[in-house]
Amino acid sequence: MHNIEYAQADILKLATIGKTFDRIEAVGVLHHLADPRLGWRILLSLLKPNGVLRVGLYSTAARRSIAEARALIAERGYPATPEGIRALRRTIIRNRHEQRWNLLLATADDFYSMSGCRDLFFNVMEHTFTVPDITALLAEFGLSFLGFELDADVVNKFQQRYPAAGALTDLDCWNAFERSNPQTFRNMYVFSVRRNATD
Ligand SMILES: C[S@@+](CC[C@H](N)C(=O)[O-])C[C@H]1O[C@@H](n2cnc3c(N)ncnc32)[C@H](O)[C@@H]1O
Repeated sequence: MHNIEYAQADILKLATIGKTFDRIEAVGVLHHLADPRLGWRILLSLLKPNGVLRVGLYSTAARRSIAEARALIAERGYPATPEGIRALRRTIIRNRHEQRWNLLLATADDFYSMSGCRDLFFNVMEHTFTVPDITALLAEFGLSFLGFELDADVVNKFQQRYPAAGALTDLDCWNAFERSNPQTFRNMYVFSVRRNATD
């Protein structure tokens, strides 16, 4: 590829680079900022009118067991070292009969690798979001929701429950769907939004 320029920077220092973009992707990044809304604001300042932003954010509902594991880490003081990670794993496996760990052990592949486990539970900063949080962010920043990225079987199940045209981009429907299917966004909410041209 000759038309790609690679660079590396802190999102919080991008506001003054003097460039704008048709498309920006930040999957799994904004929820690690101390102030995710500041990250949104900076990225959106770099997005052209009608530009598309693709975002990935942790779901509060899907990460309930992970929040419990993070609370356990804080309570026991497990460090983010191989020893701390192994100690956490041992505690969870010993208590695997508890429903919260049961689900985690069955669904989180990252639990079984050292680097995966570190990323899953030990990030120093992480926020989680709900669908109403996303709705509020889009209203605040004047963005149109273009849709979630999900496997076809999830989309089929959603459409059986919400067959109306337009339901796929109706965040109220997705909120109701996630309430009855809390693991829907196990791999994060990944979605795209368009910056309204009138901004
Ligand atoms: C869990 S990784 C996600 C990486 C990748 N986007 C993906 O989907 O696999 C989180 C990434 O956010 C980056 N990150 C965290 N804070 C950042 C900041 N202030 N500016 C730029 N990148 C940041 C980290 O360096 C890390 O690579």
